Amino acid sequence: MTEAKDEAITREPAPAGTTRIAALGDLHVKEHGSPSYKELFEEISQIAEILVLTGDLTDLGKPKEAEILAADLRACSIPVVAVLGNHDYECGCVEEVSKIMKDAGVQLLEGQAVEIKGVGFAGVKGFAGGFGRHMLGSFGEPAIKAMVAESVEETMRLENALRQVRSERAMVVLHYAPIPETVMGEPPEIYPFLGSSRLAETIDRFPVRAVVHGHAHRGTYEGRTPGGAPVYNVASHIEKPTGRPYALFDL
Ligand SMILES: [Fe+2]
Ligand SMILES: [Fe+2]
Repeated sequence: MTEAKDEAITREPAPAGTTRIAALGDLHVKEHGSPSYKELFEEISQIAEILVLTGDLTDLGKPKEAEILAADLRACSIPVVAVLGNHDYECGCVEEVSKIMKDAGVQLLEGQAVEIKGVGFAGVKGFAGGFGRHMLGSFGEPAIKAMVAESVEETMRLENALRQVRSERAMVVLHYAPIPETVMGEPPEIYPFLGSSRLAETIDRFPVRAVVHGHAHRGTYEGRTPGGAPVYNVASHIEKPTGRPYALFDL
């Protein structure tokens, strides 16, 4: 099985039989004072065949913020696949934000899969809950049980999405982290709020070539699930082998 491979920025085409994918997360587009992403999207369109956005598209989940991003995305001439992040839920307008993204041509994954240029993308936002032996368990108050249930539900959505993938070249797109390695750099006290090992348990039951996520702005670029699937934290703040805000993968 060929693994995803990072490439320095190159104008050379992706090797035969592979598709070049650019991935980045946590754009946090604000209503006022945000940098324009037009030039970045133009640059990515020259280099990659598909753009993947790993959530926190907006800063507060405001429709106006989504509209600003949608306008910038007009500069992107390649297919765009995305999941939402927790910030996209903040002001309670998630349906409107989703509609604006879909109207802008973004393939928004909320537990579905889509195949583009031979690559199967399975995407879900994911949720918090912690990692390994220290994951939050369903015990005690209803509020704790609701939190665990949400985490399990997101995992089941990911499982359904992965079942739909027909391509041998599968990429999982998340906002929350599936492993603790790629959140390292954040304060250990907040690890449980940055992701859940339940996602990795599901990923490891399927042949997945690469997993991308965001959310942990101060995390670490690269890690692996216990089953060996490569995981990349592509939050725009993370230093990447490309030297740019986005990562590149030839899948
Ligand atoms: Fe973020
Ligand atoms: Fe986030």
